[in-house]
Amino acid sequence: MNILVTGSNGQLGSELRIVAKNSCDRYLFTDAVELQGAETVILDITDAEAVRAIVREHDIHAVINCAAYTDVERAEDDIERCRLINGYAPGILGAAMAETGGLLVHISTDYVFGADPYNVPCREDQEGTPAGVYGLTKLEGEKAVLASGCDSIIIRTSWLYSEFGRNFVKTMLSLTASRPVLDVVFDQAGTPTYAYDLASVIYGIMEGRSYRGRTGIYHYSNEGVCSWYDFAKMIAEYSGQTGCDIRPCHSSEFPTRAVRPAYSVLDKTRIKETFGISVPYWTDSLKICLGNLKKKI
Ligand SMILES: NC(=O)c1ccc[n+]([C@@H]2O[C@H](COP(=O)([O-])OP(=O)(O)OC[C@H]3O[C@@H](n4cnc5c(N)ncnc54)[C@H](OP(=O)(O)O)[C@@H]3O)[C@@H](O)[C@H]2O)c1
Repeated sequence: MNILVTGSNGQLGSELRIVAKNSCDRYLFTDAVELQGAETVILDITDAEAVRAIVREHDIHAVINCAAYTDVERAEDDIERCRLINGYAPGILGAAMAETGGLLVHISTDYVFGADPYNVPCREDQEGTPAGVYGLTKLEGEKAVLASGCDSIIIRTSWLYSEFGRNFVKTMLSLTASRPVLDVVFDQAGTPTYAYDLASVIYGIMEGRSYRGRTGIYHYSNEGVCSWYDFAKMIAEYSGQTGCDIRPCHSSEFPTRAVRPAYSVLDKTRIKETFGISVPYWTDSLKICLGNLKKKI
């Protein structure tokens, strides 16, 4: 099977490069720009002609869409570009797969929820209530995938981190090493997700061909619930950077352009039962990622 991955230079795409290394399937890793040291075929997912051409040329049977506009803050002022990448382009990929009878695995986000203050984990069939441009356009992207009529698996995930790219773990490692005191919000709850774990789940689904008859929307994060404050405390503790005084604070003390969900824990029952997977607890995965980051230094 020939599988095209978009946004391969990002966090999830980079982890997919690792987990799919020994696959018998042929993976084609693409992104809008080249990345030094990695083989990347150039593909801008907003270019419908380019998408159709690459699908034809490489006889693509499935697309894993890891590409997205992920700068939540900048999105508030860059609505058109964000909507093009997150809301419109997934429909282009869907149309290409609908034409060839292929599968689209599309990644979405907990930010499709957020405007309503939930206090129970969000389920797949719960109505989306995005509070900002990023969440709104990601919800539009999900709808575009479903409207395209292709076979699709949409996986919503949350608080993604990895050894690659920019993320909360790497920011906290840098800040706790350089500052005596750090205030981190404790009134937003969610679940961190190690991108390697999500990549492994996607890879497992593709390898086992277990998507057949199981298309639809799924949620995946690591197990457990925490605040950003708890997350920061664990990053500092596990990395041995305990010299920084990390203090809990309210979101109102850090006004941002984009409204963040106060509670965006994802209910993962469906993906666990459908694909028979067990999900690592978030602190166990965090330790593994920090260990891998240490080896890189
Ligand atoms: N990061 C999180 O905390 C988080 C949480 C929940 C869900 N998600 C979702 O998970 C998925 C993967 O996220 P991630 O953290 O791996 O994202 P990421 O690190 O930002 O990677 C996204 C990649 O897509 C590329 N890209 C942007 N526009 C493109 C275009 N028009 N054509 C082709 N490639 C393009 C980006 O390039 P540039 O960097 O050059 O723009 C980047 O390499 C996304 O769907 C995201 O919405 C992320």
